[in-house]
Amino acid sequence: MSDAEKTAPESPDATAPASSVSSSSLPSPSPATEPQQTRTLTVRVQRSGPGGANARFDDYRLSVGPEDSVLDVLDRIRVETDPTLVYRHSCHHSSCGTCAMRINGRERLACITRMLALGTDVVTLEPLRSLPVLGDLMVDMRPMFAHIDPDWGYVRPVEKASTGVPHGVARYTRLENCIECGACMSACPVSNGTDDMPPATAQPAQHAAPQSTRQPARQAASQAASQAAQDTDESLPTDSPADPLAAPLFIGPAPLAALNRELARHPERREELLHIGKGPHGERHCRRHMACSRACPSGVYPAKDIMDIRMMHGGGKD
Ligand code: SF4
Ligand code: FES
Repeated sequence: MSDAEKTAPESPDATAPASSVSSSSLPSPSPATEPQQTRTLTVRVQRSGPGGANARFDDYRLSVGPEDSVLDVLDRIRVETDPTLVYRHSCHHSSCGTCAMRINGRERLACITRMLALGTDVVTLEPLRSLPVLGDLMVDMRPMFAHIDPDWGYVRPVEKASTGVPHGVARYTRLENCIECGACMSACPVSNGTDDMPPATAQPAQHAAPQSTRQPARQAASQAASQAAQDTDESLPTDSPADPLAAPLFIGPAPLAALNRELARHPERREELLHIGKGPHGERHCRRHMACSRACPSGVYPAKDIMDIRMMHGGGKD
């Protein structure tokens, strides 16, 4: 992935007409090696500038083999036809979490989603919801990371395998599976704005927006504690929707799952950490849709973490 892909959208002409890739413009595998199941599909990609400006769909027609993932196909389109296509990826094997997007309306990892397994003639690709669009299929993850303290350390399975156990360490303890892909944030109806249940609270309250880089959650805890002292239980935030990094109504499933892991690791910090979970943007906004757990590609079940936090302070209220 180029630096440009990592950091900035590359759609200089966001209103350009749809381009297409015909199967005849792509390398043709020899008849002897061409998988019998190869099919020509339409890949329909949402294109836009930052903030979703000038959103449209572009269609690309191309041949797809049974082993081709959605990410493989995006790479082919970008290399062979449309270098302005913006998306994010790194590991290609479901470890980094950077390729999450909506595929045929569901949050999935593009690198492990087989095109033909989707079973549709048109495969529609859209960016994650709940997070600001930087361009095309790439979203800004900072609003999620702003509520996950980088000090909440852990070891992922892939990191265990690649580094081995250092001298003097008896063993690793596997602490979490979250790959910080944001799929749960996108799937959550409260976070993505599709929740049709009435809000539990009504009065607005101002609060600080997250920093534009990762914010230590101890700082967030302090802010939340301070805010909780000012807010009543009936408070809701009123950030300007024009600010994509404004603190959200609900900090979302992934930060709350991370918080619950930290609560398990550090029971001595229970009160401090619970200030985040029960703060004005915390678990109180969860409606138990369970969409986060269904969307998670890594078996985290963030809805259970949210319920754990709710129960830790006598929850159950909506
Ligand atoms: S909890 Fe699951 S869906 Fe949410 S960010 Fe972590 S891995 Fe992704
Ligand atoms: S590219 Fe890393 S999870 Fe898909």
